Amino acid sequence: MPSHVLENFLKENLADLKNKGLYNEIDTLESANGPVIKINGRELINLSSNNYLGLATDDRMIDACVDATKKYGVGAGAVRTINGTLAVHIELEEKLAEFKHTEAAIAYQSGFNCNMAAISAVMDKNDAILSDELNHASIIDGCRLSKAKIIRVNHSDMDDLRAKAKEAKESGLYNKIMVITDGVFSMDGDVAKLPEIVEIAEEFDLMTYVDDAHGSGVLGKGAGTVKHFGLSDRVDFQIGTLSKAIGVVGGYVAGRKDLIDWLKVQSRPFLFSTSITPGSAAACIEAIDILSNSMELQDKLWDNVHNLKDGLKKIGFDIGNSETPITPVIIGDEKKTQEFSKRLNEEGVYAKSIVFPTVPRGTGRVRNMPSAAHTKEMLDQALSVYEKVGKELGILN
Ligand SMILES: Cc1ncc(COP(=O)(O)O)c(C=O)c1O
Repeated sequence: MPSHVLENFLKENLADLKNKGLYNEIDTLESANGPVIKINGRELINLSSNNYLGLATDDRMIDACVDATKKYGVGAGAVRTINGTLAVHIELEEKLAEFKHTEAAIAYQSGFNCNMAAISAVMDKNDAILSDELNHASIIDGCRLSKAKIIRVNHSDMDDLRAKAKEAKESGLYNKIMVITDGVFSMDGDVAKLPEIVEIAEEFDLMTYVDDAHGSGVLGKGAGTVKHFGLSDRVDFQIGTLSKAIGVVGGYVAGRKDLIDWLKVQSRPFLFSTSITPGSAAACIEAIDILSNSMELQDKLWDNVHNLKDGLKKIGFDIGNSETPITPVIIGDEKKTQEFSKRLNEEGVYAKSIVFPTVPRGTGRVRNMPSAAHTKEMLDQALSVYEKVGKELGILN
């Protein structure tokens, strides 16, 4: 007999979300997630993917995935500690460590899982975590799971971080204290102030944890934000995802060997969930080889980023202070932002609106993610649509 309690719960809450305009209708792509996508039979210029380097559809990646799938099969067959560790997983971890300039690395099923895994494997109820208020949801959930005291730090406010680090240290209440930050903040595209964060961490004896989901493959010649600032030997945990610039799926933690040894025996998503597929692992290895041997894709990405940003600014849009490919067009009013995104879509540009509660009230934006796979023509076309819709909705004069 189905539960009436569940039925009532879902009915009430789904209706409530729909009434508040917070129910997200998800689009289905009828094509690969490339620079142009097909939705409901219509082709759209895609400015919403995290496939920064276009690797998700790169032939070299597809070949690597197919070859490994033929050799190892489609699935790893078991949790890694039982008998699901394949040679291709070890090869991937060795490559990741080399790429990140660390002693070792461990791969997980997703970037989200890394934060579920690593934080709670090291931190517990006797510890404290200083966490930037704009950190990703998976960091927030990972912190909660650990049961450590979570101390929210104002976004990228180094005075606040210093004061709270000092207070936590001097309180004597905590065994261990960690500072956690995104490397690149995904809604505004700003980069964490890592040199100052590391200095404060060293002064107050904090562990440092950087989730570089949006920095890896993009900054630091591809190796990420930590490398960009030359801090590879001063950050304890470097987290990355394999699903954005790398173009596949999975995540990893890179760091000292004894940390990785500890995570292999203590982190629950590693111990109790099957690993990424052999085909995915092989494609990730191929991606790292591509990034390590040539700057072609990163150069193309940054050319496209500059073209799109310059174009949007010239037309007259407020694009915030992003230092990375993440390019918000800030509209402000939530309803107008949603209308703007809808009109872009009708004119052939797929760029999603992001509004409260994902970003603060009154800062609604359409977020654009240019990639190495876009052509100049595609971006020019997108810019002319932006100008047309901006004028039509009274956002531009
Ligand atoms: C900072 C950060 N961490 C983790 C994730 C999750 O990564 P994945 O999609 O690999 O689970 C994201 C994705 O948006 C992210 O921005």
